[in-house]
Amino acid sequence: MTEQPGEDAAPDVAPYPDLMDRIVNLSKRRGFIFPSAEIYGGFRSTYDYGPLGVLLLRNVKDAWWRAMVQLRDDVVGIDAAILSTPKIWEASGHLDNFTDPLVDCRNCHERWRADKIEGTCPNCGSGDLTEPRAFNLMFKTFAGPVEEDATVAYLRPETAQGMFVNFLNVVTTTRKKPPFGIAQVGKSFRNEITPQNFVFRTREFEQMEMEYFVPPDEADTWFHYWLEERMGWYLDLGIPESKLRLRHHHADELSHYSTATADVEFLFPWGWDELEGIANRTDFDLKAHAAHSGEKLEYFDQSTGERYVPYVIEPAAGATRTMMAFLLAAYDEDEIGGERRTVLHLDPRLAPYQVAVLPLSKKDELIPLSREVLTLLQPVAVCDFDTTQSIGRRYRRQDEVGTPYCVTVDFDSLEDRAVTVRDRDTTEQVRVPIAAVAEEIAGRLRR
Ligand code: GAP
Repeated sequence: MTEQPGEDAAPDVAPYPDLMDRIVNLSKRRGFIFPSAEIYGGFRSTYDYGPLGVLLLRNVKDAWWRAMVQLRDDVVGIDAAILSTPKIWEASGHLDNFTDPLVDCRNCHERWRADKIEGTCPNCGSGDLTEPRAFNLMFKTFAGPVEEDATVAYLRPETAQGMFVNFLNVVTTTRKKPPFGIAQVGKSFRNEITPQNFVFRTREFEQMEMEYFVPPDEADTWFHYWLEERMGWYLDLGIPESKLRLRHHHADELSHYSTATADVEFLFPWGWDELEGIANRTDFDLKAHAAHSGEKLEYFDQSTGERYVPYVIEPAAGATRTMMAFLLAAYDEDEIGGERRTVLHLDPRLAPYQVAVLPLSKKDELIPLSREVLTLLQPVAVCDFDTTQSIGRRYRRQDEVGTPYCVTVDFDSLEDRAVTVRDRDTTEQVRVPIAAVAEEIAGRLRR
């Protein structure tokens, strides 16, 4: 594991200096991510996930859920409402503290986050900026037909509070005792002053968060445990060690609720930046909600007769941001048989399609057998079926979206009832009997 101090290392942007442009372009061209409402000229840094993007994003979230919930017996899931009472945000401190410092350029009237610029307007270069003022990032709306103070509601700016307000419900219904966690994946909304870098910072995004409730004297041990676990998750799914690091927050960077935080950072084309924050949130949230709601948010340990407010260790990741990091890390160009290709070396667990079934030719006689092969494979893998263009072009198209295996049905297949399985990374091809192809692919995907 790479653990480095906070100082920014020089970004290693080679070998693709324009990698961001290539990813944005590929995302649009192949149906990962489209600018939202494009036929109306787009809408302020919002994005729609296309047929391949929705698969990749779902795989990222599923991989997180599998590691954080399915493979453990100490974490359970919830799915809380996005729209909720302002009382939650009053208690959590978001109404008072969830702000960014906003400055206006008096020359060109652009608005900026004061902490992200260096005293001059990035648009026109003027140094004539207003004094920073606190701008609250929460999206405000009204629940019901009347727009008045009593009906104000907010879209959640983080999924975390859903776990705190359901703490008692979960303890009572599951009989879990600390250390245990509550996990949630879902949309969050922040009225970011300057959304930027494609889906890195957007106003609508998805989070994958887990609140791990522990006895207070075990908080530090669990904090370090989750640092290791979370770093391991990204490495296991193919982010290279050289592009991943842990950065511990300095005391003056800590959120109002935290005594220790470390970020998992990825080496983006513009430098090291955050993928996930892991924080010791202490008993701040449970105590705050207890004080505001009048409910006792404590754990009563029947075996010891002890009653206490657990501390919380929170690994908080962004699903949409992490999906983009996986795309950036997977991108490569190489040469196969003298021909250049673009290839995404995505882990098969993340790849939108795991298999493409490709009849060698569009001729009618290959289609029924190809569909038979497709039907055999669909229960074990997410499959594409492509009959257009030459087989070479179709291999390139699958490489470009990261499909780990192509299964080709040719004219010999009609005689020998076998197909060719091609590996994306090595381009090696092996002949496999149709009767064994599902098991062959399932075996390769299990590896
Ligand atoms: N509950 C703690 C919390 O929300 P955060 O560091 O503000 O912590 C956690 O957010 C993660 O959510 C970030 O590390 C990032 O991956 C993602 N995230 C936050 N704001 C985002 C935005 N505007 N666009 C995309 N992802 C965002």
